[in-house]
Amino acid sequence: MTRIRFDFNNMFSFAVGPKHGVTLGDVASLRPSGRYAVEHINAVLSEVRNSINLGLEWMRLPYQAAEDIAKLQRLGDEIASKYENVISLGIGGSYLGLKAAQDALLPPYYNEFASLRRGRPRVYFDGNNLDPDTLTALLKNLNPKKTFVIVISKSGETTETKAAFVVVEKWLKSAVGKKYGRQIIAITDPKTGALRRKADAEQAKDPMSFRSLPVLKGVGGRFSEFNIGLLHLAITGVPIEEVLSGGRDMMKRCSVPSLSANPACLYAFLHTILYRKKGKNIAIMMPFSETLKSTADWYVQLLAESLGKKYARRVRVDAEGVETWDADTKKIVNTGRTPVPARGTNDLHSIQQNNIEGRNDKAVTFMKVLKFKSDIRLTGTGDFLSGRRYSELLQTAQEATEWALTRESRPNCTVILPEITPYYWGGLLIFFEMATAIEGELLGINAFDQPGVEGYKNYMFYKLDKPGFPEGIARDIEANPLIKKGRFII
Ligand code: PA5
Repeated sequence: MTRIRFDFNNMFSFAVGPKHGVTLGDVASLRPSGRYAVEHINAVLSEVRNSINLGLEWMRLPYQAAEDIAKLQRLGDEIASKYENVISLGIGGSYLGLKAAQDALLPPYYNEFASLRRGRPRVYFDGNNLDPDTLTALLKNLNPKKTFVIVISKSGETTETKAAFVVVEKWLKSAVGKKYGRQIIAITDPKTGALRRKADAEQAKDPMSFRSLPVLKGVGGRFSEFNIGLLHLAITGVPIEEVLSGGRDMMKRCSVPSLSANPACLYAFLHTILYRKKGKNIAIMMPFSETLKSTADWYVQLLAESLGKKYARRVRVDAEGVETWDADTKKIVNTGRTPVPARGTNDLHSIQQNNIEGRNDKAVTFMKVLKFKSDIRLTGTGDFLSGRRYSELLQTAQEATEWALTRESRPNCTVILPEITPYYWGGLLIFFEMATAIEGELLGINAFDQPGVEGYKNYMFYKLDKPGFPEGIARDIEANPLIKKGRFII
């Protein structure tokens, strides 16, 4: 089978010049710590195969047992056979992977047309904002008796998801009555959080009510699509095993301790060099495919939450010279590239002008698709477009963009997907997850936490008087208030 391929040529000095491209000297200078990063990832990988630890359990997700997947598929089929609609509530890592899968793996306009759904339910997403208009419109137009609800929150405490769930629960209850909880599945921490407590309490009354699936220990939101997203795949009829098998094959490629053979390692290395040495602070993720747009959005979160960090991790070196990382260092680094999603060809008429002529502070990643599920041939245009296929135009536009960027010394690379199938999409996600994990190692930060996100959550909890709010954090907020008096607002 053809593999996903990677074209990194335009990131090097021979394509974009030594000022903006990676030179062999640059690679050599990063090699020792790079070799260390891969060895570290490999060491942790073999460790996690035997035990759950260190926030790297996500690496095991593609290897889930066939009987567990079969069980999940039965649950998905059961829901699909009974309901016309599914509402999935969640935000951040509890939403973006599902939305990416929905757009990449289901036919475009899946929700709109019964012929495309093939007996499977429509899927709507909410709880990913606090905009009252979207939820109101959705609930006004769905029949609660024919709607199943998946509520996803690892912590079980996130305000957006919680608020939406309260509304949706009331909506279900008033229409369905006592047994409304049978139309709900919670995906949350197996032990802690408000959602877990709620699910356990309701289940104790009725085992068919508020069934739940666990967010596995050590799987952070943005690395969790192959955990929390699988029920969504099962309901909509996406072959889960193909997604996981693509993930497994990519995991193998991205675990080889060789810079030239490991695409994730090379991606991470080259971007780290461009970031640190050539000032490429901005990461443009640009699929040339409408259906991969949400995958670019998913990547934005992966990169921003994993690598945008204030503190370095402390390195400890033992007597044998083996280094280990510590998360609690207070050395401030304020690091991480800024991701920006874009899509070809749409954004060639927008952000691309800046990409080519604005500050040379960006590295662009293209995703190029070789074969689409369908194609359109233009006829009778009476000009050079006649006889051309849509796919050909799209690929030419990508090649033209790549050429124009390279000509202006703007580094870029291309991920080449033979097709958008569950197999390749699974591989794509693992590629970016591994690349981000390795980049985190190269930057010397903890890629698996998100203290910045917690900061805003804490402020909201404080302002909304959440019971049991930690006193230490409250004191910090009180000591650093927002400017109120004398605020300059026009
Ligand atoms: O990647 C992450 O960990 C975050 O984006 C979370 O997924 C997001 O904040 C939602 O949190 P939770 O799943 O606890 O509701």
